[in-house]
Amino acid sequence: MADIRIVPSLDFATASLDAFLELVDEFPSPAVGLATGNTPLGLYHALGRAVMDGAVSVGQVRPFAIDEYVVARHHPCSNREFFERHWETIEDAAPVAQFDPEAPDLAAEAARFAAALAAAGGLDVAVLGIGTNGHLAFNEPGSTAECRARVVELADGTREAVKGCFGAESPRAGLTLGMAELLGARAVLLLANGASKAGVVARALRGVPSPECPASLLQGHERLLVVLDEDAARALD
Ligand code: PGA
Repeated sequence: MADIRIVPSLDFATASLDAFLELVDEFPSPAVGLATGNTPLGLYHALGRAVMDGAVSVGQVRPFAIDEYVVARHHPCSNREFFERHWETIEDAAPVAQFDPEAPDLAAEAARFAAALAAAGGLDVAVLGIGTNGHLAFNEPGSTAECRARVVELADGTREAVKGCFGAESPRAGLTLGMAELLGARAVLLLANGASKAGVVARALRGVPSPECPASLLQGHERLLVVLDEDAARALD
């Protein structure tokens, strides 16, 4: 059974931080998959403040990206740049292991990244957001529980959602960990906030599990912690 925590929007960042620390503290040197996007921003900022205050440390965390756009490596809207701004500015945080979107052979790059993660023991904790179409990382609808790290075509809605940053040149492809690597995490922290996520949160947590909503495949994960704000939880019974 998932542990679902519903909090007022103002408390979403703090509740996300509490849940993150709770899971990360279960492992001595956790390999942690890190989401990008708007959802985890409050978590990373709250974490940065907590580290600065000396309240916590993330020096023991081994961070891994969960996906990347196929764009120039240092494109300002890339996940690499996101981590540089929002994770690597945390005082004691280790640099994030990343996909290289400029690798000459992207399929080989996905395999290299998956092998590096496997050599690290696989994910201990996966920190995930959710797309309005149910995607996790870039596992778009149709992704089965068995799919592995690979190059994918991005769904129209996914491209649309990031047009604010990329403009007309919104990328068509991405590199992503697969559902197999994400579901294989020993613990999963799923985060969602805002009314635009209410429908998909209900499908993911209450619908019949199906690749049509990859996030629904998390149902039944033995250590699933979900933090929602009240708006994102609105369609749950
Ligand atoms: P968001 O993206 O956090 O920016 O809403 C979530 C996702 O698409 O996984």
